Amino acid sequence: MSAAARRRPTVVVIHGPNLNLLGTREPAAYGSATLQDIDAVIRGLAEELDCDISTSQHSGEGEIIDVIHSAAVAGSAIVINPGAFSHYSYAIRDALAAADVPKVEVHLSNVHAREEFRRVSVLAPVVNGVVAGFGANSYLLGVRAVVAMLDK
Ligand code: DQA
Repeated sequence: MSAAARRRPTVVVIHGPNLNLLGTREPAAYGSATLQDIDAVIRGLAEELDCDISTSQHSGEGEIIDVIHSAAVAGSAIVINPGAFSHYSYAIRDALAAADVPKVEVHLSNVHAREEFRRVSVLAPVVNGVVAGFGANSYLLGVRAVVAMLDK
């Protein structure tokens, strides 16, 4: 596709509950970077990938669902770290299932190497893929994946 014909991709990055505490929250599991540090790294990818990236953090399930709906209407790809909602939110699962856009679930930590309850994601079956265990890089890999899908 020519550069002129290519619509500038947009990616909506959603951080779920408790991720606003990064930097001080369980550093052994999540590292010492703050959410602001991580957002800056994510936004740094926008120029390289020639896309628009927005990031936001939401503690509530309903707010996350509203952002998913808006992204779907706009045709924006979704990169979501749903935090603990990953493990039990059927409402977020239904919102993602209804969003016909590229979508990737990401986790900072390797959820499969932690407590039993973190090994199950009720969202994983309705997204294109899951990236877990690479710290802030999980987000960058997720953004690259959805932009590649939008470019196809
Ligand atoms: C997390 C993993 C979840 O199990 C946990 O509830 C989080 C963060 C991660 O990024 O590793 O809040 O999504």
